[in-house]
Amino acid sequence: MLFFRIGITLPNEPDTNTTYSTKNKHFEFIKIDIADREAMASLFQTHQFDAVCHLAAQAGVRYSLENPHQYVEANIVGFLNILEGCRQQKVDNLCFASSSSVYGLNQSQPFKTSDHTDHPVSLYAATKKSNEMMAHTYAHLFGIRCTGLRFFTVYGPWGRPDMAPMLFADAISNNRPIKVFNHGDMSRDFTYVGDIAEGILAILDTPAGSKDVGAPTFDPRHPSPETSSAPYRLYNIGNNSPVNLMAFIRTLEAEFGTEAQKIMMDMQPGDVASTYADSSSLTQLTGFTPNTELAEGIKHFANWYRGYFKK
Ligand SMILES: NC(=O)c1ccc[n+]([C@@H]2O[C@H](COP(=O)([O-])OP(=O)(O)OC[C@H]3O[C@@H](n4cnc5c(N)ncnc54)[C@H](O)[C@@H]3O)[C@@H](O)[C@H]2O)c1
Repeated sequence: MLFFRIGITLPNEPDTNTTYSTKNKHFEFIKIDIADREAMASLFQTHQFDAVCHLAAQAGVRYSLENPHQYVEANIVGFLNILEGCRQQKVDNLCFASSSSVYGLNQSQPFKTSDHTDHPVSLYAATKKSNEMMAHTYAHLFGIRCTGLRFFTVYGPWGRPDMAPMLFADAISNNRPIKVFNHGDMSRDFTYVGDIAEGILAILDTPAGSKDVGAPTFDPRHPSPETSSAPYRLYNIGNNSPVNLMAFIRTLEAEFGTEAQKIMMDMQPGDVASTYADSSSLTQLTGFTPNTELAEGIKHFANWYRGYFKK
């Protein structure tokens, strides 16, 4: 089986318009903007995929207030091109990244896939919710087995530069202050990237509809958000263990051996105060539970950070 990553370039990758292969002959990287309809159609015409795992997106809540069009291009137009590619080439196993941000104004915690998610508070969240609905439609109309995975604050090696672990690690290592939003009164269900990867692989092996262990039955008169008559499922992938922001900062400080200078700030627009995943349906289906302790995950992250940035 060939593994593809379709994307724009990451730091450290050659900025090239051509396809290139890494040393691993089972992996190929192709540089395509997923919003480019013709390029995407051609990709699906020239390759046969057993399954598609779609993670590319314009991510991040805060940037969606500054550059909303980018979110619609990558997350809506791009996602439609993925769905159409699967439809045209009869790929019937699609797994895609959604987000805990779809829970929006919901304050009933832990968040469950049976909760309604009709109150997003950022355009980013709205695009992820739209992806879930678009996938459901394609599952219903064309039988494409679709699984949406709601990730909860992913951290670890190769973390995103706009997210707290990288921002804080950069500030602490360079003796700059960190911004602490909502005066530290926030919590996140930080999930180690290795757990996310394991969850994705488990889901790819059990496409929606193939083994819906314990899945509640769809009742069209009282349709619960976590059920469907279509081959479509949603799962949370979170650590089931929210961590207060100040405790998170203390863990980083301990790992880097320096106390951070803190600037206390108000809550940012589009943000939510806390997230907490109920990942029990993922465990029921696959037997896998994300369970990396924050201290252990931060150790892996810090080791990578120091090696990569030569700190
Ligand atoms: N990191 C998190 O905490 C988190 C939480 C919830 C959901 N997610 C979702 O998980 C997925 C991966 O997120 P991440 O944190 O690794 O983000 P990331 O920004 O590191 O990775 C996203 C990738 O998508 C690619 N991309 C963006 N626009 C593209 C386009 N138009 N065409 C082709 N490639 C494009 C980028 O080049 C990048 O490689 C995203 O769908 C994101 O919304 C992430």
